[in-house]
Amino acid sequence: MLTNPVIEAMLNRKSVRKYSDRAPTDEEIETIVRAGQQAPFASQLCSLLLSRKKAPFGAPLWFTICVDMHRMELIMAKRGWAVVSNDLSMLLFGIQDAALMAENMVIAAESLGMGSCFLGNTPYRAGRIRKQFKLPERVFPLVELVMGYPAEEFPPRPRYPLAFTLFEDKYPELTDEMVDEAMRVMDEGYLAQGYYRKQKAKIKLEGDRKETFTYDDYSWTEHISRKWGQWLSDPDELLGEMEKCGFVIKEGK
Ligand SMILES: Cc1cc2nc3c(=O)[nH]c(=O)nc-3n(C[C@H](O)[C@H](O)[C@H](O)COP(=O)(O)O)c2cc1C
Repeated sequence: MLTNPVIEAMLNRKSVRKYSDRAPTDEEIETIVRAGQQAPFASQLCSLLLSRKKAPFGAPLWFTICVDMHRMELIMAKRGWAVVSNDLSMLLFGIQDAALMAENMVIAAESLGMGSCFLGNTPYRAGRIRKQFKLPERVFPLVELVMGYPAEEFPPRPRYPLAFTLFEDKYPELTDEMVDEAMRVMDEGYLAQGYYRKQKAKIKLEGDRKETFTYDDYSWTEHISRKWGQWLSDPDELLGEMEKCGFVIKEGK
């Protein structure tokens, strides 16, 4: 594989969950956000909220990354237009704009010696965040990103093997061996770091499944299976939070 400082920063990046008290300067923050803004966009449908109050994991910076139709509508109104595009389409474009901007920020922070960690339950607190930051209609808090100088050091986490990710010309039939190998790489990698043990992050089993895992063998594939095998079966809560922010997704809209 090739390497250079950009590739190195990307391959070394990891989610940091312990931060030093060192506060990033305004100039550092401006640099990170400008690098974020320069990501490709479909429509610049992303804005950022920043709080410098103590964030989760003791991070000094706490960004909330939003899908923002409000500014687009202000601009379109000045041009004599109103949005007719459906909210599902606009949210998909907005999520892509937001994801690309957020990851540019993550890499920019990494290149400056900082670390970061996303927080994913933001959409389920959208109504509360809307009140806290006095958001106008049509701004949806998508994901949070905490950032600062790390107070912990550890190696990067594993990823699926390339053969389980990159499919040239045709999606292959994934064999049992390929699935087992992908699971082995992920599980051994997280176990080697004591990742779930350190975070005490074992997800409780619901229903009548009996717990058979300890932190000696509970790893990523079990964790992720418990999430998507038990949570969020009903979309109503999320649709409700979207509606609080002025986004309506339903058949025929
Ligand atoms: C959309 C999204 C939501 C996430 N939510 C959380 C979260 O709520 N809490 C947390 O500790 N980490 C969260 N993470 C971080 C992931 O757990 C982490 O990226 C993953 O385990 C891979 O580890 P790495 O980033 O260190 O390579 C989130 C990451 C993403 C992209």
